[in-house]
Amino acid sequence: MLNRPPAAPRHVAIIMDGNGRWAARRGLPRSAGHKAGVDALRRAVKAAADFGVEYLTIYSFSSENWSRPAAEVSFLLDLLRRFIRQDVAELHRSGVKITVVGSRADLEPGIVSLLDDAERMTRGNSKLNLIVAFNYGSRQEIGRAVAAIARKVESGDISAADISPELISLNLDTAGIPDPDLLIRTGGEQRISNFLLWQCAYTEFVFVDDFWPDFTHEIFARALDEFRLRDRRFGGIEAQTA
Ligand code: IPE
Ligand code: IPE
Ligand code: MG
Repeated sequence: MLNRPPAAPRHVAIIMDGNGRWAARRGLPRSAGHKAGVDALRRAVKAAADFGVEYLTIYSFSSENWSRPAAEVSFLLDLLRRFIRQDVAELHRSGVKITVVGSRADLEPGIVSLLDDAERMTRGNSKLNLIVAFNYGSRQEIGRAVAAIARKVESGDISAADISPELISLNLDTAGIPDPDLLIRTGGEQRISNFLLWQCAYTEFVFVDDFWPDFTHEIFARALDEFRLRDRRFGGIEAQTA
């Protein structure tokens, strides 16, 4: 009998949660947790490449995170700027292709051009696809896709009968990216917080109690082990081994 290798997830999405609580436990300001979170992100990217993951999507700032105190928001924006300036060259050298999902409308132009540059510079890479969800909210993304499709119907390019799940997927920010196989959320909360609602229709969820700044290669490996034990049926009745 053929011994099939356990299926590795092609696409892992991560809700990097728990920075603030990690800092509070240490009597530090929340900003210290966000800073430590960037180091955890660097570890996660390396681990994903080691594990042969093809797509890694990280939730870095949600559409709802603007409701945090102004000082925290500007610290987070600053961290993003710094991460892009400091890390993109190195990511590029290691063959990482960066794609940013989320709304760029109303973002300050300096940030938009940093994001554009990161995408442009790394466009030809293929070792790992790093998808950064920034100013991202899944309902907002779906809303933009519906509006784009409505405009095509209005202009007569397509008719209402042409609207299908595939067409909707193609109009999302994640067009062309396979749906996540595995979603990991750190920090102990078991919710989706407006992340990839459409794309996670058949995604396996693994929740870990560790706060994001404590994320390691080993925690990642354990989540992959748990994924391998899952029986993905996609609505059918037996394990899909294809
Ligand atoms: C995740 O950590 C980082 C962002 C949402 C930007 P949090 O800042 O949400 O940390 P907790 O959940 O409050 O501990
Ligand atoms: C989700 O975490 C967003 C990111 C990790 C960027 P939140 O901390 O914002 O989510 P809630 O508020 O606990 O649902
Ligand atoms: Mg949180």
